[in-house]
Amino acid sequence: MAFKTEKFNSRIGLLLALVGSAVGLGNMWRFPYLLGSNGGAAFLLFYLVFVFILCLPIYLSEVYAGRKTRQNAFMAFNQISGNRTGRAMGGFFMISVFCTISFYIVVGGWIISYFVGSLRFNSLLSPESIDSFGTVVMGMENTPASTLICLGCTILFMVMTAAIINMGVVNGIERFSKITMPLLFFLILGIAVYSLTMPGSLEGVRYLFKPDFSKVNGSMLANALGQAFMSLSLGCGTVLTYSSYSHDKTNSVNLAVWTIILDTLFALISGLAIIPAVFAFGMAPGQGPELVFNTLPRVFSSMPGGQIIAIIFFFTLFIAAISSSISLMEPLVASLVSDKFSRTKAVIVVTVGVCLAGALCSLSFGPLSGVKVPGGTIFDMFNIAASNVFMVLGALGTVVLVGWFASKEDFAAVLSSEDGKYTRLLYILHFMVKWVAPAAILFIMVLGFINI
Ligand code: PHE
Repeated sequence: MAFKTEKFNSRIGLLLALVGSAVGLGNMWRFPYLLGSNGGAAFLLFYLVFVFILCLPIYLSEVYAGRKTRQNAFMAFNQISGNRTGRAMGGFFMISVFCTISFYIVVGGWIISYFVGSLRFNSLLSPESIDSFGTVVMGMENTPASTLICLGCTILFMVMTAAIINMGVVNGIERFSKITMPLLFFLILGIAVYSLTMPGSLEGVRYLFKPDFSKVNGSMLANALGQAFMSLSLGCGTVLTYSSYSHDKTNSVNLAVWTIILDTLFALISGLAIIPAVFAFGMAPGQGPELVFNTLPRVFSSMPGGQIIAIIFFFTLFIAAISSSISLMEPLVASLVSDKFSRTKAVIVVTVGVCLAGALCSLSFGPLSGVKVPGGTIFDMFNIAASNVFMVLGALGTVVLVGWFASKEDFAAVLSSEDGKYTRLLYILHFMVKWVAPAAILFIMVLGFINI
């Protein structure tokens, strides 16, 4: 039974919410490093081919599922396939967003503590304390106080996410995205300009873009594809859920293309904001937590005006992370809401569940660091399971079900705007959804597995 839900007020609101979901830690801490260490422009070339040629049809198939059914991510494929495969797919999406948000809020918590730390620059982000506090998140320091700070901030980040979700689609998600996305763009652009004017920064630009085709191999391709899925929030029901709140007249092709362009632009500008500064201070860029929570604070502490930049940077990172986190929570909440179960109740249930899993992830940097599970620590397991397994399989399932259960005529009718624009293009995209995308995803998965 379809449950009546809110719709986004405007097209720009929907676009900015989708961009808010896409732009996140994937852009700011993963992409710059992947680009630099995987062959620079060679990686970028494959990445661009993946996002614009392979991910566009995949993206549109998630949009199709949301717009066609107007159901939540758990139920949508049930309606499309009319059999049990669809239900399994819904369950898959739920596991995927749950795993992702559980480790995402831990990093969100670190961002909060670093933001507060940068306000009190001298006590928390001085070179001496980076050595202790900065290593908290790297699991090298293990005091009860640091464990509690991380845990508390993880829960705080989740509660902030929940507060926005509880305000609803229009007053919460849409309003938040409309205010913060333009701000995010200017902030990251400002940091990039500052970073590029530092002496020695060109070395960083060279690191980012120098083409090295010898690095092209199976694992590089799998990395590029995994990054593309993660960055565009594909394969876990987020795009589907947001699209189910769109108006019928929204032109989905334009929407998807703009989301991909803006997401890629953000990733490139983030690279230019972060890596050149790191090189200007003669440091080596590390990946993920190490880059953002260890290397960068050192750069800030030796940079003129470093405190201001640190405050702006961690604030920027916070916005990017929380807008992604709300998009991870919404599919879970939307799937629980019904005539008998209010949004607020759903928000509470999801918050408690995610906080419990998030606490385990957070503690895996402290007292639970010795607990070894497949993939490494508990945090690693959630991270790897979500981005390397569930999202890729989620995307594969989406294209297979949409490709085989939706006719090309229906695909085009649901996705084009009222004037029937792009019908021919949508037929081609449907062909890609049905044949090319599943084959390409499988092929790259196998390549990555055997790594040739
Ligand atoms: N796209 C987000 C990022 O780049 C992560 C994300 C994945 C958000 C899946 C929602 C769904 O960080």
